[in-house]
Amino acid sequence: MSVTILNHSLVKHKLTNIRKKETKTKDFYQHVEEIAGLMAYEITRDFPLKEVEIETPICKCVQYEIANDVVIVPILRAGLGMVEGIRSMIPTAKVGFIGMYRDEKTLEPHEYYAKFPDTIVDSIVLVVDPMLATGGSAIAAIEMLKKRGCKDIRYVGLVGAPEGIDALSKAHPDVNIYLASQDEKLNENGYIVPGLGDCGDRLFGTK
Ligand code: PRP
Ligand code: URA
Repeated sequence: MSVTILNHSLVKHKLTNIRKKETKTKDFYQHVEEIAGLMAYEITRDFPLKEVEIETPICKCVQYEIANDVVIVPILRAGLGMVEGIRSMIPTAKVGFIGMYRDEKTLEPHEYYAKFPDTIVDSIVLVVDPMLATGGSAIAAIEMLKKRGCKDIRYVGLVGAPEGIDALSKAHPDVNIYLASQDEKLNENGYIVPGLGDCGDRLFGTK
């Protein structure tokens, strides 16, 4: 298991933009998508490669392609905001969906939808959700994927609280975690501090 916090000036710059409370829906969505695209570079760093024989305009040669299929699984709703950014870097990736919401009082996750491509079991699965707060949603989503037989699962988020990172690492020690930022803490309502507020509402303009 590893926790990678991206240390990149452009990612930090764009993250500052989405943290600002005055950032409006269109700009917010665009920046979430762009940060996710930039994170794809780091996430794919160690993807296994296979040799392929190709022909350049000059000669035949053996080169490399990514060996495994990739499936992106956003946790609805907020995870949707990260999908196109990663797909722009991995256009062959398939997409599955997990619908999950957090009860506002208990903070417990509740599943309401699941749909995956048939090939998911043998694919590299990227579970994407911008917010890792208590970790409950991510832990439950990954549990669901493991029950279906997925073996290579990685979690990709934007902002994580120490509590969520710790809980996810303990529940699924085999899952590598990628985040754009580790923030300070959770507040009494289970929101990440300083965080960026309710990510689903800000992405989709619902409040
Ligand atoms: C948010 C977020 C995560 C979850 C994180 O979703 O997108 O899925 O909360 O919290 P946790 O780590 O404590 O589980 P929310 O339940 O607000 O649903 P939404 O994306 O549909 O708004
Ligand atoms: N979900 C969000 O959208 N934001 C938080 O800070 C925590 C959970």
